Amino acid sequence: MNTVYLRVNSEEPDEFRLKKAARFIREGELVVFPTETVYGLGANALDESAISKIYHAKGRPQDNPLIVHVSSREMVADLVLQNLSEYSALMDTVWPGPVTLIFRKRKRIPDSVTAGLDTVAIRFPSHPVASKLIELSCVPVAAPSANLSGKPSPTREEHVVEDMDGRVSCIILSGSTVFGLESTIIDLSRERPVLLRPGPIDPDQLKCVLPDLQIPGFASGREQYLGDPLSPGLKYRHYSPDIPLILVEGELGLVVSKVGIIAGRKSSLVLCSEELRDYYPVQVKKVVLGSRSNLLEVASNLFKELRNKENMSFSQIIAEPFPETGVGLAIMNRLRKAAWKIERV
Ligand code: TXA
Ligand code: MG
Repeated sequence: MNTVYLRVNSEEPDEFRLKKAARFIREGELVVFPTETVYGLGANALDESAISKIYHAKGRPQDNPLIVHVSSREMVADLVLQNLSEYSALMDTVWPGPVTLIFRKRKRIPDSVTAGLDTVAIRFPSHPVASKLIELSCVPVAAPSANLSGKPSPTREEHVVEDMDGRVSCIILSGSTVFGLESTIIDLSRERPVLLRPGPIDPDQLKCVLPDLQIPGFASGREQYLGDPLSPGLKYRHYSPDIPLILVEGELGLVVSKVGIIAGRKSSLVLCSEELRDYYPVQVKKVVLGSRSNLLEVASNLFKELRNKENMSFSQIIAEPFPETGVGLAIMNRLRKAAWKIERV
């Protein structure tokens, strides 16, 4: 398939170019587009045959449902069965933005979008290109992250070119995404709201507008969700770099010495913070994700470094743990899912 590339300014998107992309969506084709979290692989959420193209292009298991993207709060009422006024304070706080909300769904959403579940995940992105594209398409847009299944989500232009060239009708290039991690997911379809996937938003901030929000322990990573029907996608291996990733967790003094020992066994690259960089052996290659006091910076660099080709010339990657506060909960969730092995010291 020949992929059409459109370069669009991320802050002031060119409507003429986005109209072209919107036409692809309306015609049942796939369009890769930027959001403030990661790049998405979009199709008309109301068109079954367009949806099946998403699963095919990604190599995604059919039982892993998609997020439906909207460009206004009004669009949501047409898609869900719940009374939205109950959640207006929450929506005022998090939308548009990097948060996905799960509601009980209306029948008009095809089963293939929700993998047969009676709920639908909805996101109202704030990225000007994403919201304009959805608006011009005049339909809700179903979109998973635009990576091949199992790979880290794409946060930069070269990632989507690498994974999606020739697999989709159109790719919109608009530079790097802002947060670099997928949206926070909250399930509002059950009696008590539950945080299903930590993301860019600080869970404590969510508690202010959703006091009874349940925050499950994400400490054990993937294992705890095996077979859990709450969010089917969470049971799959995710974000894996091409070479083994070992995550070392524990008290930082012990972490530093353990990383040094593991790094001595093979050619290794250490993913670390600015603060600890100089404590690791001099002969080991270090890649700094950011400062421990600026976890948003760490988050925005994580997938970039897990996909960085130069980093893959080593035999293994060893990662340091980060504090599980604010976006740190999401960073550790992704690191644990990406890890081939977790060493606890
Ligand atoms: O930031 C993001 O959320 C990006 C951008 C493109 O919006 N999208 C994204 O989509 O990360 P994806 O498909 O990679 O991850 C969506 C997750 C999956 O783990 C899926 O299982 C879960 O959302 N999900 C979707 N619908 C669901 C539902 N009805 N109930 C529970 N989990 C659901
Ligand atoms: Mg994904």
